[in-house]
Amino acid sequence: VASIQIVRFADQDQFEFSHHTGEAIPGPGQVLVRVEAGSVNPIDPIVATGALAHAAPATASLPAVTGGDFVGTVVRLGPDVEGLRVGDRVFGQAGVLVGGSGSFSTFALAPAGFTAPLPEDISDEQAASLPLAGTSALQALEALNVAHGDSLLVVGGGGAVGSLAVQLAASRGATVVATASPEDAEYVRSLGASDVLDHHEATWEERVKDFDALLDASNVHQPRWRALLSTLKRGGRAIFLSSKPDAAEAQAAGVSAQSQLTEPTRERLTAVATEAAAGRLAVRVGEVFDIEDGVEALTARVRGKVVVTL
Ligand SMILES: NC(=O)c1ccc[n+]([C@@H]2O[C@H](COP(=O)([O-])OP(=O)(O)OC[C@H]3O[C@@H](n4cnc5c(N)ncnc54)[C@H](OP(=O)(O)O)[C@@H]3O)[C@@H](O)[C@H]2O)c1
Repeated sequence: VASIQIVRFADQDQFEFSHHTGEAIPGPGQVLVRVEAGSVNPIDPIVATGALAHAAPATASLPAVTGGDFVGTVVRLGPDVEGLRVGDRVFGQAGVLVGGSGSFSTFALAPAGFTAPLPEDISDEQAASLPLAGTSALQALEALNVAHGDSLLVVGGGGAVGSLAVQLAASRGATVVATASPEDAEYVRSLGASDVLDHHEATWEERVKDFDALLDASNVHQPRWRALLSTLKRGGRAIFLSSKPDAAEAQAAGVSAQSQLTEPTRERLTAVATEAAAGRLAVRVGEVFDIEDGVEALTARVRGKVVVTL
C-alpha cells in the first residue's frame, strides 16, 4: 500500500510518502476502495497543521493518511452498506474529517454515504477532482435556491468550487457575474459568466449591486462578508464557504447570510456525475502527480485542481 501520510502536526513539510503492507477492513457503513486517483482540496493542508484537531477529533490521531477526494473501485463492503457492489467504479470523499481513512493511498476506507457509482464516460482526472468541489457548489446553489432568471454573484469564480457553481447556475438559466484574477477572466466567461470582475481591485464590490444571490467561494478567511452583502438586493441570500457571517446582522440589513459545511452525500455526488456525464460540468485540472510525488502535489501552486494518481 502506497500512501501520503501526515506524520506530525506542523507545516506541509511533514507529509511523508510510505509503503506498507496490510489491507484495512471496512466497518459498518464503510466500503474499501482501490483508489485510482485523488485530488487536493484546500482543507487537506489545513488538517495537516492540526488546527482542526480540537473541533474535529477524527483529525487528531497520527499518523494519518491525507486527502479526501477519490475515484476508484469498490473491493470490499462493510456491514450495513446499501446501493454499492464490489466491482463498482465509484467516486466520493474518504477524508478522515468525514469518517474515512484518507484517499491518498492505494486502498482507502470511505463512508458509503459519501460514495457514489460513476458513469464510465467521466475520466479519472475529472472524477477525482469533482467530489468536494462539485457537491459544495451544488449544496450552495440548493441553499441559495438559484433558479431560472435569478442573478447570482460568485466570488472566486476561477476556483474549483466557484467555477463549478458558475456552470451549474448558468445551466439553470441564472445570470451569473463572477470575480476572478485577470488571467482567469476568459476561462470564467467560457463557463457561462456574463461579466467577470477583478477581485484584486480594492473596491470591486462597489461596482455591482442588486443580486438575488451571492456565493463566496473564495479562500479568503477575513471579515469582508459585510462588504459582500452590500451587493445583494433586499431579500437576497448569501452563502459563505470560508467566512462566518453574523446571520442576525445580515437579517437586520434585510438579507440572509450563512456559512456552509458541505456534506458530499451520494445524492449530491450522483447529481454532479449526471451533470458531468451530460457535458454540462467540468473541472479544470491543473497538474497530475504520481503518488510517489504526492508530497510535492500537496504544496503545488497551480491554477486548477491537483490530481494524484495511484
Ligand atoms: N465549508 C465547506 O464545507 C467547504 C467545502 C469546500 C471548500 N471550502 C472552502 O472554499 C474555498 C474554495 O475552495 P476551492 O477548492 O474552490 O479553492 P480554490 O480552487 O483554491 O479557489 C479559491 C479561489 O479564491 C480566489 N480568491 C483568492 N483571493 C481572493 C479574494 N481576495 N477575493 C476573491 N476571490 C479570491 C482564488 O482566485 P485567485 O487565486 O486567482 O486570486 C481562487 O480562484 C476554500 O477556502 C475551501 O477551503 C469550504
